[in-house]
Amino acid sequence: MDHFLYHNGTLHAEDVAIPDIAAVVGTPFYVYSTATLSRHYRLFTEALSPLPHLVCFAIKSLSNVAVLKTLGNLGAGMDVVSAGEYLRAKAAGVPGDRIVFSGVGKTREEMRLALTGGIRQFNVESEPEMRALSEVATSLGVTAPIAVRVNPDVDARTHEKIATGKKENKFGIPIARASEVYAEAARLPGLQVVGIDVHIGSQLTELEPFEQAYLKVADLTRRLRAEGHAITRLDLGGGLGIPYARSNEAPPLPTDYGALIKRTVGDLGCEIEIEPGRLISGNAGLLVARVVYVKNGEGRDFLILDAAMNDLVRPSMYGAHHDIVPVAEPPVASPTQEFDVVGPVCETGDTFAKGRDLPLLAEGDLVAFRSAGAYGAVMASEYNTRPLVPEVLVNGDQFAVIRARPSFDEILNRDTIPPWL
Ligand code: LLP
Repeated sequence: MDHFLYHNGTLHAEDVAIPDIAAVVGTPFYVYSTATLSRHYRLFTEALSPLPHLVCFAIKSLSNVAVLKTLGNLGAGMDVVSAGEYLRAKAAGVPGDRIVFSGVGKTREEMRLALTGGIRQFNVESEPEMRALSEVATSLGVTAPIAVRVNPDVDARTHEKIATGKKENKFGIPIARASEVYAEAARLPGLQVVGIDVHIGSQLTELEPFEQAYLKVADLTRRLRAEGHAITRLDLGGGLGIPYARSNEAPPLPTDYGALIKRTVGDLGCEIEIEPGRLISGNAGLLVARVVYVKNGEGRDFLILDAAMNDLVRPSMYGAHHDIVPVAEPPVASPTQEFDVVGPVCETGDTFAKGRDLPLLAEGDLVAFRSAGAYGAVMASEYNTRPLVPEVLVNGDQFAVIRARPSFDEILNRDTIPPWL
């Protein structure tokens, strides 16, 4: 459930009419709902209770500091994968002991930053990374808490570009080698082993792959404990999928996921960490755009929007489906028309949808892409020198611009001319 509903014939974000935001910030823009973000976060905490747990929001899905502060104020932890994300979490006021650091290629500078600023744990993904972290921690006179990310060789049954738990993927260490790797970790002077980490992919629409992975983690926990390691935390990753097409998709709910966690690893006495991104932020955001032209092509009609692939890349990158709805609610049983929905960028790949059945739309009309909160604004670029889309946060009847649209001067001034020109 989200808080983007029609009231009096107009799409609202909570109690704010979308056209009122468009009048202030122009189009296109992203808009996020505080109530939806908070609700989704709470669904996870409720689903995991009474197990000791920390829900670490995967910042990569939506990293605006105002959004992080909204979740951080509710007690959320953060899952970060770069120095920039770490600094965002800190800027949002999240204490280091609620930040976990994931990622296959953490640099020594990033390790130093997190060790000096405070960190709950590093999820290390390889032996060279483990050795580097031990060196950095020792040089700073501290000990780095770690979980080793294991690759359970489980098929997440999702898009191949976002599946991470198969042995051919670059992530984690093979679970079969865990004993060896943990033994080395225990010997390294700068590390303290605290747990096990696993993340098998994103946009999972079934529970079985999670179940397979978590059962392997449960076995591994028992084995590593028998080998003398103090495994007190399990980081079970993110990945729970969301319904993108409201009509026909029903992925499992956080309650089902929570029950699965309790069933598979709940008796181990470990503190549970999870790293959901999309389920918290995805349906908490819309991308709002305006129809620039309706163009009648050969046997098809194009709806040309002022938003493009640089603003929301998921359809062109993964062939992803996003529901597109008119901001003015169409009357019941009004006629529809098939459109190819496209942006102005000079590539055929700049297509959001083909043959999409939509109400009759005309130049100047506003439309909204649903489920655009996750991996939307964060993956945007300035391709075609199109300014990054502004972000707006709604809370009840209030809204605020949380990232302004850059001016063309700001964009042009970032380029500098070398002395010989
Ligand atoms: N933890 C780790 C270690 C991850 O790599 C990811 C996502 C998450 C947590 C959060 O997963 P989520 O709960 O959001 O599924 N750009 C793609 C998705 C890439 C996901 C990358 N890793 C998309 O637009 O679908």
